[in-house]
Amino acid sequence: MIKETFIQEKRPHESATKHVSGYALYTDDISEPEGTLYGAIGWSKKSHAIIRKINLDKVIKSEGVVAVVTSEDITGRNDVGPVYDGDPIFPKNKVEYFGQPLFAVAAKSTELARKAVLKAKITYTKLKPIIEIKDALKKKSFVLKGQVIKRGDPILIIRKAANRLKGEFTTGSQEHFPLEGQVSFVIPQEDDDFTVYSSTQHPSETQQIIAKMLNQKSNSINVIVRRIGGGFGGKETQSFIFAAICTLLAKKTKRPVKLRMDRDDDIIITGKRHDFYSEYEVGFDELGVIEGLNIKLSSRCGISPDLSGAINSRALLHIDNAYYLPNLLVENFLCKTNTSSSTAFRGFGGNQGMMVIENIIDNISRSLNKDPAEIRRRNFYQKEKKNITHYGMKIEDNVIYEIFDSLMKSSNYKSRQLGVKKFNLKNKYLKKGIAITPVKFGISFTTWHLNQAGALVHIYCNDGSVHVNTGAIEMGQGTYTKIAQLVSKELGLPFDKIKVSATRTDKVPNTSASAASSTTDLNGAAAINAVRIIKQNLGVFVKKKYKIKNSEAIYENGLVKFKGKSFRFNSLIKEAYLNRVSLSSSGFYTTPKIHFNRKTFLGRPFLYFCYGAAVSEVIIDTMTGENKILQVDIIHDAGKAINPAIELGQIEGGFVQGAGWLTMEEVNWKSNGEITTHSPSTYKIPAVSDMPEKFNVEIYKYGKNKENVVNKSKTTGEPPLMNAMSVFFAIKDAIASTGNYDKAPIINAPATPEKILMSIKNLERNL
Ligand code: MTE
Ligand code: MOS
Repeated sequence: MIKETFIQEKRPHESATKHVSGYALYTDDISEPEGTLYGAIGWSKKSHAIIRKINLDKVIKSEGVVAVVTSEDITGRNDVGPVYDGDPIFPKNKVEYFGQPLFAVAAKSTELARKAVLKAKITYTKLKPIIEIKDALKKKSFVLKGQVIKRGDPILIIRKAANRLKGEFTTGSQEHFPLEGQVSFVIPQEDDDFTVYSSTQHPSETQQIIAKMLNQKSNSINVIVRRIGGGFGGKETQSFIFAAICTLLAKKTKRPVKLRMDRDDDIIITGKRHDFYSEYEVGFDELGVIEGLNIKLSSRCGISPDLSGAINSRALLHIDNAYYLPNLLVENFLCKTNTSSSTAFRGFGGNQGMMVIENIIDNISRSLNKDPAEIRRRNFYQKEKKNITHYGMKIEDNVIYEIFDSLMKSSNYKSRQLGVKKFNLKNKYLKKGIAITPVKFGISFTTWHLNQAGALVHIYCNDGSVHVNTGAIEMGQGTYTKIAQLVSKELGLPFDKIKVSATRTDKVPNTSASAASSTTDLNGAAAINAVRIIKQNLGVFVKKKYKIKNSEAIYENGLVKFKGKSFRFNSLIKEAYLNRVSLSSSGFYTTPKIHFNRKTFLGRPFLYFCYGAAVSEVIIDTMTGENKILQVDIIHDAGKAINPAIELGQIEGGFVQGAGWLTMEEVNWKSNGEITTHSPSTYKIPAVSDMPEKFNVEIYKYGKNKENVVNKSKTTGEPPLMNAMSVFFAIKDAIASTGNYDKAPIINAPATPEKILMSIKNLERNL
């Protein structure tokens, strides 16, 4: 038997040098054919209104304008909703959010196009908007019917429990803020075909949506994506409207059109992370073990379902995080509001669900005057019993004790906690806090059919170089690098002989979005399967020609070793070509084992879980609410990491993005629905100076995926973001030190300076 070996090779991202030198081509860098036009979008200044008249006379006459498109120009489907309708490209009668696109222009320059759209005269009859979750709940305004999940008899158990707590909690929205904003570039071809370059995580759905909009066949639309400058979920569906409008303009003008959004317009038009509001009641014993839990979980979905169904179900699937919840009732409400349609964002609802339970456990600990670390550990899923989730899945890969316990040690949690207490006794205005939080995050798309991927691999006969194409989108997370590493190992070739080429719908069709952290798991496996078919062709050929027994071979160091016969890879390839052997193949992969019944909410929605834990220590200024992360220690499970350098980047980056979500990034809407935070001047994302002063990140040494996943790796796409929960609870710990310890401070996320100050004031008042 061939011994199992793993790649664990730190190497730079395949485009690292190009990223930093500016030679990496993003959509806006593609050379423009002569005659290219530039687009801009005119959007609604009302959040809820009947459209009386759209007068574009002055827009059309504006300098440099070549064409204008409105809903009248759409002959096919006027909607970009991925699962349900509800996201019109241009609404006909009614606007539903401030920023909703109404028309677009193509002009001779981007500047002229942007100037022109401002000249529209639109008359509306205003309607009353619903902006806040609580208002939507009151008015029963929902985008979809929410699920109710139940295990055991929580109501009775809570009533009988020795201890009870009740409360409310919210986590905030978040703008994706990728370095590269939304952009599309469309070039008309013969026969009304279109080549579409789009900064998207989902080329196949872009293709479908454009085809439906134009009433054309899918085979007339080719979507190409070499890389995107970050997506974070914000280009899983939110890119569609730009690609659609850009194609509409290209069709009308019969010229290439580029539509690159200005940052403000980008933020105003597109959907963001769902903010969540929860009400809970929990019953627990003297030791702080949760016995019964009842939660009402509501999210702001914006105007349409978009991906809200799946996001809310992921929140429900992660309401347990790493904890065993024997009796549970959760009612979920998907609130329809007059705001842009909330969408995918790293964590996809999972993190929002996890924050609910973490906050409850924190409050339980404080009410019992116990260290939250102890209560957390005591509620963990166990290995032999108490290991079935509330959705009926048995947890078979639990390593949370190992990770949590070794982090407690390596971070010196106990002694640093004492240090924090001492510091707080000595200091009146500055207070420190420390917290440890666990992460358990399920991997697979919860929509079963999305767990498939395809690949196309060619080996060229003259030099044995390898061309790989898959459905994976390179968004900075390093999937092209990791796929090339997997292929290079599979063929025993040096990394530089493998080229992963731009993702395009005419090479690999029917792809899923690069999302759910599953990109390399799925597409890497499909690429390996394609390579294995070519290897099989080679094996059959060698076996027959050289009359050897076994067609299997070992591919390593540029050699192909059959039992009794060895070849240099290049010579074998040449020889195979001359003997008319196919050196190209597609490959396909589907995730095994998973199944999930949405109605009963039971099954095995995930192939495996990712685990991690983090300790954060913070300091707050009780006079200003300012806060700073002093030290972060993380141990995170990446299985057998394909590329530990890239995984480390994902773990650090995810953490910082999570810390931004929980401490400083605050999306605000006025009561009339106008978003006020649409540029970096009013919306603060973490800067270099917000990085923890000490940042110790370790990939879990003994990590190995139990399931059959490429290289026995575990993805690091989304799960590390949730390590940032420790920052929020460290801040809460610091606030708690200003009052009686057993009185839990009330603070919602994001813990901005204002909220920290208010929380301290409330504690003072209750003293
Ligand atoms: N990392 C970078 N640099 N840029 C991104 O846009 N997106 C995140 C995460 N890490 C993102 C990122 C999100 S939301 C997901 S789902 C995963 O990467 C997608 O990639 P993966 O499936 O290869 O992990
Ligand atoms: Mo990630 S939110 O699944 O694109």
